[in-house]
Amino acid sequence: MTSHNVFRDGLFDGQVALITGGGSGIGRGIADVLASLGAHVVLASRKQERVEQAAAEIRAAGGRASGVAVDVREQERVQRTIADVQREHGRIDLLVNNAAGNFYAPSESLSANAWKSVIEIDLYGTFFCSQAVLPVMRAQGGGVIINISMTLHYRGWPLMAHASAAKAGIDALTRTLALEWARDRVRVNAIAPGPIPTEGVKKAFAPPPSADGAVDVFAQERAMDDYAKRMIPLRRFGSPEDIANMVAYLASPAGAWITGAIMVVDGGEWLAKPPLPK
Ligand code: HXC
Ligand code: NAP
Repeated sequence: MTSHNVFRDGLFDGQVALITGGGSGIGRGIADVLASLGAHVVLASRKQERVEQAAAEIRAAGGRASGVAVDVREQERVQRTIADVQREHGRIDLLVNNAAGNFYAPSESLSANAWKSVIEIDLYGTFFCSQAVLPVMRAQGGGVIINISMTLHYRGWPLMAHASAAKAGIDALTRTLALEWARDRVRVNAIAPGPIPTEGVKKAFAPPPSADGAVDVFAQERAMDDYAKRMIPLRRFGSPEDIANMVAYLASPAGAWITGAIMVVDGGEWLAKPPLPK
């Protein structure tokens, strides 16, 4: 599917986009679409090999891309990374705060470190990157920040207290920064994706192995197929490109009067009833 060719060629020529978690899943999809529309994409995550490999693949496909290793939980490292990107490219037009950590776990047994890990990656990471990029965007006369949220906290979602709390915080941060930074011509929006079966999600939510240690992958696929048909009004899971298209729209001049918005891209899923806790 190449629906991004609905956008004009060269839409982001000369622009620089920094995408956290850009080496896999949704972040990679965002990087592919922005690069195909002319942006230089900088992919940032913990695993150097992962971001460098992804950047090399984008370059091989004709795009402009580079990779940088950074843990978004480390504020000083984030600040240095953003300063380096500015030094190398002279500007940062778009920041996509996409990096996240997540796993299903009963709230009553979440350790302090488990809670902290997810809150720090999702919420602190989004704040640290946004705060560090502001002076760059202000100095160049404006920019766009897009935070990747979710919809599960709209109703509550069993076994995901940590990520739900973090993403609710991200929504609040999105609206607040949009108001504070509008005077600097920095637009701050969020996208709330519905379920997209990336490798990261499959790993985070894999069913526990059976007694002999085997994971029944086919059972997982059947369950997912059933879920899509029963619970998603548009009857399919999303793709990274579905989210990337919204990023391209918000980052383009078509989004020039949009700030503080949280755009739900989920095939109508959150309007359907969530399952009851087991
Ligand atoms: C209970 C768990 C756990 C689990 C980890 N922990 N996994 N607790 N159940 N399944 C606990 C550990 O025991 C530890 O606590 C603490 O969390 C930190 O674990 P580490 O492995 O040391 O942390 P770290 O290496 O920093 O890794 C962070 C992570 C990991 C979040 C735990 O899963 C990660 O790197 N995730 C990145 C990829 C990812 O999650 N992608 C999915 C995004 S998808 P103790 O107390 O033992 O020290 C998404 C979509 C949601 O968000 C929507 C779906 C529909
Ligand atoms: P994914 O492939 O696992 O992506 C997570 C990315 O974040 C990885 O590239 C990972 O790279 C990076 N990352 C994790 N911890 C980091 C850290 N401390 N510092 C820097 N980078 C870090 O999962 P995904 O499904 O594409 O999810 C992407 C975003 O969409 C997340 O914000 C997620 O919450 C959101 N979302 C996904 C879904 C879905 O169904 N897939 C639904 C709703 C919302 P490294 O391991 O190299 O660090």
